[in-house]
Amino acid sequence: MFANIYKNKKVLITGHTGFKGSWLTTWLIQLEANVIGIAKDIPTIPSMFQKLELETKIKHYQEDIRDLSKMTEIISNEQPDFLFHLAAQPIVSTSYFDPIETISSNVMGTANILEALKTSNHPCTAIIITSDKAYDNVEQVWGYKEDDKMGGKDIYSGSKGAAELIIKSYYHSFFKSAKSNIKLAVGRAGNVIGGGDWAKDRIVVDCMVAWSKGEKVEIRSPDATRPWQHVLEPLSGYLHLGSQLYINSAFHGEAFNFGPKAEQNHTVVQLLKDLSVYWNISETDKAMKQDY
Ligand SMILES: NC(=O)c1ccc[n+]([C@@H]2O[C@H](COP(=O)([O-])OP(=O)(O)OC[C@H]3O[C@@H](n4cnc5c(N)ncnc54)[C@H](O)[C@@H]3O)[C@@H](O)[C@H]2O)c1
Repeated sequence: MFANIYKNKKVLITGHTGFKGSWLTTWLIQLEANVIGIAKDIPTIPSMFQKLELETKIKHYQEDIRDLSKMTEIISNEQPDFLFHLAAQPIVSTSYFDPIETISSNVMGTANILEALKTSNHPCTAIIITSDKAYDNVEQVWGYKEDDKMGGKDIYSGSKGAAELIIKSYYHSFFKSAKSNIKLAVGRAGNVIGGGDWAKDRIVVDCMVAWSKGEKVEIRSPDATRPWQHVLEPLSGYLHLGSQLYINSAFHGEAFNFGPKAEQNHTVVQLLKDLSVYWNISETDKAMKQDY
């Protein structure tokens, strides 16, 4: 898989203790990569990171990406062949309560990773994960193209849009040069679902928690449409992107969107109805209807 490119390679993942990060770590272990992780904490209890005992299978650094000297030290010492940057404050609702945590982690944290890569200048293929929320949301009905304008009306979205501008400027200022050993691409995806997610304020997790207690689930935007996809779909895209960036000299400095076909987009309500088929839901379905 992925042209066997990850076998015996050093792969650094930031945010490896989170939902997507622990799946990516697991996948890369299967691909026989030597995985190194940086994360400031284990964001949920329980967590897939702990359930799969990933700490015993990789080199684990508990550090904050806002600490530039630490990031520089780790990246210079470890000299990873690949880097997947996922660490972020990823929850929109949290960004209203703690804008500075969100901005500092998502914008300055990303800048620190790029700066540490630049300082190390060891050959490295870096995939930086932002979000489809990085776009200026103009409520268009068709999907966003890779080069549409960045923006963001809430703090989380704005932080991801700002991170994109910083990534672009690092690329043009430093990594585009023939002297640079760093190859770079951005990966954007929308809402991701799947086992191993225990984060609050994510619709599927909220449903499972509420329904398993026989409670109603609170729905904020029932008619909002999101490009839901299973967690392994964007991760396969990120891994494919990493392998192509490594092999193919034509790729460098671009962003790639990973999402389902437009006709597969679902509203929140439709998602809940589909979920309810797999749950003994007649009572809950009634509860859902009362809630919005
Ligand atoms: N889950 C989704 O639906 C979704 C959708 C679009 C984009 N994304 C993006 O994918 C990435 C991973 O998301 P997730 O759902 O796995 O998140 P998560 O909350 O499950 O994990 C976040 C990870 O980042 C680490 N982290 C956060 N702030 C940090 C800091 N300052 N220093 C070091 N580590 C820090 C946490 O320790 C954890 O390992 C994020 O960049 C997120 O914005 C996620």
